[in-house]
Amino acid sequence: MSDELRQTATTLVAEGKGILAADESNATMDKRLEAAGVKPEEETRRELRELLFTTEGAAEHISGIILYDETFRQSTADGTPFPKLLQEQGVVPGIKVDTGAKPLAGSPDEKVTEGLDGLRERLSEYYEGGARFAKWRGVIAVDDQHPSHLCVHANAHALARYAALCQEAGIVPIVEPEVLMDGEHTIDRSEEVTGTVLATVFAELREQRVLLEGMLLKPNMVLAGYQCSEQPGDQEVAERTLRCLRRHVPSAVPGIVFLSGGQSDEDATVRLNLMNQMGPQPWEVSFSYGRGLQAAALTAWRGDRDNVQSAQAQYRHRARCTGAARRGEYSEEMERELVGSS
Ligand code: 13P
Repeated sequence: MSDELRQTATTLVAEGKGILAADESNATMDKRLEAAGVKPEEETRRELRELLFTTEGAAEHISGIILYDETFRQSTADGTPFPKLLQEQGVVPGIKVDTGAKPLAGSPDEKVTEGLDGLRERLSEYYEGGARFAKWRGVIAVDDQHPSHLCVHANAHALARYAALCQEAGIVPIVEPEVLMDGEHTIDRSEEVTGTVLATVFAELREQRVLLEGMLLKPNMVLAGYQCSEQPGDQEVAERTLRCLRRHVPSAVPGIVFLSGGQSDEDATVRLNLMNQMGPQPWEVSFSYGRGLQAAALTAWRGDRDNVQSAQAQYRHRARCTGAARRGEYSEEMERELVGSS
């Protein structure tokens, strides 16, 4: 079992590759579809995922794709189940298993992620269906008064319980404690909170006997709050992020897979690239982007069949740029090399 976990984790952070987080809940996906002028319904959600998953050449840069339960059970128009389609391309199917962040009793302005009830049974069904890794996202909001000790501990505890159950089922847990960057907080505060959260998460993972070699960490980059008047440069973001991770993430963890978290596509790519240019780290430094890989494709598609090819070109382009950043080989010139978008 532990060999399988190690093997899956290593495959997910293979050189030049990272993860596509296409696991938006139906509610989140519907909001994004509506914003792009697409009717939000099961079929359009399926069509968008088919467009992404059948993009030629993307699998050169994508090691795994995280799916939402609905997508996990859907198929291409010609009847190939999505998990099978991914396996055929050598892409590992993953599954989001949390059921969302809910108000935290005791500190109702903050959230705790739910989904532990029945998780063992769900994981075993997902494994049967081909899933070999999973995701659970805890969210930590920051302001002068928050996060509370309670919020950090409750989320860390749930993340570790989820991770232990995943490993029991042969599934690699992606542990995602996301410190949100909405707000006016400085980068100093962001680094401090991210450090506290990571320290708490790894203490819980240890307590609950999670095999560090068989998991991946999905953290935020250390940024200033998006409404902060002082915004750091990319170099500072890269340096602070790596410093914070080196202080708190054991070297037994095979990889860090960042979320993009509302950064622009280019910012998310440039900063990942800089981190990979800063010499070898104790773990692989990779990506698990949602918006950072898909936003341009969704805008190009707009629900119109005639736009499928140009949308796929946008996704292939972002996958290629981000894959290059994963090796520290991205350059701004690459942004101009959008091929096949006729
Ligand atoms: P973003 O890259 O859009 O932040 O999404 C990643 C993710 O999976 C958040 O849970």
